[in-house]
Amino acid sequence: MDAAFSLAKAYEKYFKIGAAVSFMNVGSYEDILAQHFNSITPENEMKYSETEPEEGRFTFEAADKIFDTARRLGIKVRAHAPVWHNQTAPWMFDNKGRPAPPELIYERIDAHSKALCERYNADVYAWDVVNEAAHDDAPGAAGGSPVYRDSEYFRRCGADFIAAAFRSMDRYSPDAQLFYNDYSECDPAKRERIVALIRTLKEKGCRIDGLGMQQHYFVRPDYDELKRSIEIYASLGLRLHITELDVALIATLREGELSLRPGEPGFKDHLKQVLAPTPERLSKLGEIYLRLFEIYRSYSDVIDCVTTWGVADDHTWLDFFNPDPAMPQMKQYPMLFTEDHEPKPFVAELIAAAL
Ligand code: GLA
Repeated sequence: MDAAFSLAKAYEKYFKIGAAVSFMNVGSYEDILAQHFNSITPENEMKYSETEPEEGRFTFEAADKIFDTARRLGIKVRAHAPVWHNQTAPWMFDNKGRPAPPELIYERIDAHSKALCERYNADVYAWDVVNEAAHDDAPGAAGGSPVYRDSEYFRRCGADFIAAAFRSMDRYSPDAQLFYNDYSECDPAKRERIVALIRTLKEKGCRIDGLGMQQHYFVRPDYDELKRSIEIYASLGLRLHITELDVALIATLREGELSLRPGEPGFKDHLKQVLAPTPERLSKLGEIYLRLFEIYRSYSDVIDCVTTWGVADDHTWLDFFNPDPAMPQMKQYPMLFTEDHEPKPFVAELIAAAL
């Protein structure tokens, strides 16, 4: 392969190009990672349920596999999402059959942070310390707080669990950048909550270096809101990482493109036909990626990394996740590389645009 044909090299003057990988697929992606990426994120392997399934019993095999590859390729790791309402085993909130008090939860977060940092600090340049703690507009997500998600952490500790997590990570990983990470981050109502969460954290004297903007797209991006969001978050004095970028093929649909509506007979086949991954359809996906990267480049003074949530279409969480129950679950072909690990045609345009 032509060594000059590289996303990471083309974008060196703007920001890092990252990919989320799993311990199961990282081996199969080694060539693509070496050619195109200079940041790696373990997709699930650093979460609590994977690294500490029972209190004090640490399981690092899966994460180690990714770190081994990263070291071999000379790529530093964006470590992802220990303190999160998902993928956290029940022991975190349990005290011998009774609800764990906040102090015990903070001790556990502290011990966990220490163990992870001691093992991985040398290869980690940034942490998503807390993930998705602001509530969204999903029914039941608010739980009484105008800002915070109604999670087990929040119910037990109030918002202080966020500060506790940042303090511990700062203690054990003083050299890595510390991020708060969330989704729907360009939605104006959610954005206000994220801003409030960050302001509160700063008022408590916590070190937070950056905001992770997940950037999962299931509908056409609102490019103006994206720009506005970047500006608002940057005005808080934060560095920005795009942390989980993917564009589902369904986001390329334009008004009026479907002649049947959800629920009508034959809708699923019709949708599958309209959204078949033809060169024309994939070039519409490419148009969205090109526009997004154009915006990211124009804010490269505040954006340091753009990570796609996966590498190629053969392994993507969107094969198992459907945000819209009215729509059938179908393959979304969201990544920059095909199922055969070939760059999609628009990757050449993404590279050319940066040179
Ligand atoms: C969220 C999390 C990620 C991952 C995705 C689904 O965005 O931040 O860690 O679990 O959901 O793959």
